[in-house]
Amino acid sequence: MSQPSAMKPDYRNWVSPRLLYVAGAGSVVFAGLSFLVPWFAILAVICGASCAYFAYARYQFSSRGGDLQPKVQALLLDGFEWDGEGKAIDIGCGSGALSITMAIKYPDAQVTGVDFWGGSWEYSKDVCDCNAEIEGVGDRVAFQQGTASSLPFDDGSFDAAVSNLTFHEVRDVKDKRLLIKEALRVVKKGGAFAFQDLFLWKQVYGDVDDLLAAIRSWGVERVEFIDTSSSPFIPRALKLPFMLGTIGVLRGTK
Ligand SMILES: C[S@@+](CC[C@H](N)C(=O)[O-])C[C@H]1O[C@@H](n2cnc3c(N)ncnc32)[C@H](O)[C@@H]1O
Repeated sequence: MSQPSAMKPDYRNWVSPRLLYVAGAGSVVFAGLSFLVPWFAILAVICGASCAYFAYARYQFSSRGGDLQPKVQALLLDGFEWDGEGKAIDIGCGSGALSITMAIKYPDAQVTGVDFWGGSWEYSKDVCDCNAEIEGVGDRVAFQQGTASSLPFDDGSFDAAVSNLTFHEVRDVKDKRLLIKEALRVVKKGGAFAFQDLFLWKQVYGDVDDLLAAIRSWGVERVEFIDTSSSPFIPRALKLPFMLGTIGVLRGTK
């Protein structure tokens, strides 16, 4: 097994700096244009407020601020009923944080992290590989490119599946329930799953009871929903629907 290094892992941030630059630049451009057309001042204010809001969120997510990212990921693994024997997949692994946490928590497991690593975040396979090496689990975690909408694995390839705050980000599938179905496809019968996403956001997933009924109709042995949005460590300002205000965990046994 590889030895833990003195270097620190870098799990980056759910709010990319690009978002801040775009909002900040928009604010400056519209402020300039407002000298010609006063109505542009409204857009300048909206962009400025968005920039300030996302800067606050970025600070709260970071380890220098509220350190919310590992806390939110921990909600997903809390009560996760898996014996840690065999193979697990982390769908939309980002910078590898959850995959690596799984590998540390389950010392006999092999973990595969999958992500399409598009341009919206500072994440990449290299970032994931580097973090896994630093954390001393590089020999049991593999990262590969792939999309959550069509996972590059056969049916029943994994003993466990997890995914954190990814499904709502997948652009090429409008019905996000299909992403849950695709995630479950690669889990063995009797395998464990835990997915955290904006499941309480009705515009994205519809009613939670309907969602649970749909999942049961796919032949899943057991599924339950846990509302994690009211976790006390989440600041009130981050409880907007598109941030952490509608998060919940779907977990069970296939
Ligand atoms: C908010 S981040 C969460 C990352 C990670 N799960 C975590 O907890 O830190 C959303 C992730 O979804 C990934 N993603 C978006 N669309 C995807 C797709 N079609 N297939 C796989 N991953 C995707 C992004 O690249 C990003 O890493």
